Amino acid sequence: MAPKSDKKRESNQQNKKATNKCEDPEYLEKVDPILMKNIRELTAGRDNLRIFVPMCGKTHDMLWLAEQGHAITGAEINPRYIRAFFRDAELEYELRSEQITTKTKANIYEAEGQNITLYQCDIFDLSVEVLSQFDAIWDQSALPVINEIGAERLKDYTSLMQTLLKPDGRHMVEVCKHGANFVDSKMLKSLFGDKSDVRYIGKRIWKYDPQDFAEEECEEEEEEKESMGNKKHGEHDSHTHEEHESHGCGEHGHDDDHGKTQMFYHLITFKDEVSATSKRKRKIEEPGMKKSKKTPQRHLPKRKCKK
Ligand SMILES: C[S@@+](CC[C@H](N)C(=O)[O-])C[C@H]1O[C@@H](n2cnc3c(N)ncnc32)[C@H](O)[C@@H]1O
Repeated sequence: MAPKSDKKRESNQQNKKATNKCEDPEYLEKVDPILMKNIRELTAGRDNLRIFVPMCGKTHDMLWLAEQGHAITGAEINPRYIRAFFRDAELEYELRSEQITTKTKANIYEAEGQNITLYQCDIFDLSVEVLSQFDAIWDQSALPVINEIGAERLKDYTSLMQTLLKPDGRHMVEVCKHGANFVDSKMLKSLFGDKSDVRYIGKRIWKYDPQDFAEEECEEEEEEKESMGNKKHGEHDSHTHEEHESHGCGEHGHDDDHGKTQMFYHLITFKDEVSATSKRKRKIEEPGMKKSKKTPQRHLPKRKCKK
């Protein structure tokens, strides 16, 4: 980390660098084009939102969203990807740790000069008590990975996302067609349940570029060699983030031999309580009922409350 002398000047320089980066076409090429095109779907045209990016890896989208004026919180189990994010974004960070469950601490990386905070921990150790609620969630390629870990965890994951989202919040999901782990729109509807609307936004083809992950893979190999050197034959690590490595960024499944993957985008929102109420009212007036112009609430049968 850079020394903290003349912090203000450094921070201004970082802001400038990041701004230049976000204007750089090469950089913008790495930001999800469907996210950029549909940003108003995610934000509903609102400014200064709190946006959560679960299982964020090192996605450039976080810097781009922060550049749009939003406060970004990401969660990622692998510290290598978190460091790679800060390296690529050319941002300094402060590191601290915080108790997130009775047994677990998370490492928290806070960017200097940008409103970006990344939690290095298992997504399932996070809760609304730790993070509070968000205005929006940008959820990229997490569901197929969860499906790979175990289909039974999909419901835990979607329930967690629902508790983390404000009632008027918007959750944009990208699912890549990950072989058997693909989560299609029918599954999304069943996972998010009757209280949510799931609307298809679009799709695109993503081409895997091994160069994108070359540095992390080198780092990984170096660390493996080092740990092999320090370990006696047959010794294994206990529970670490390495157990999740096979579900990492560089492990996207591809639908053909050319490294191309189809990505599908959906917008998930809670059903509007007001329109849900008026639909319920309409139903009461419907078949076999004499249509009264006004149906005052007091004429409807009162529901009995359980004592
Ligand atoms: C397919 S990558 C997607 C990364 C990023 N969203 C993107 O699209 O570039 C899945 C990410 O989830 C992370 N991951 C896997 N299991 C996790 C868990 N239990 N908690 C938090 N992150 C996890 C992996 O390390 C990896 O970075």
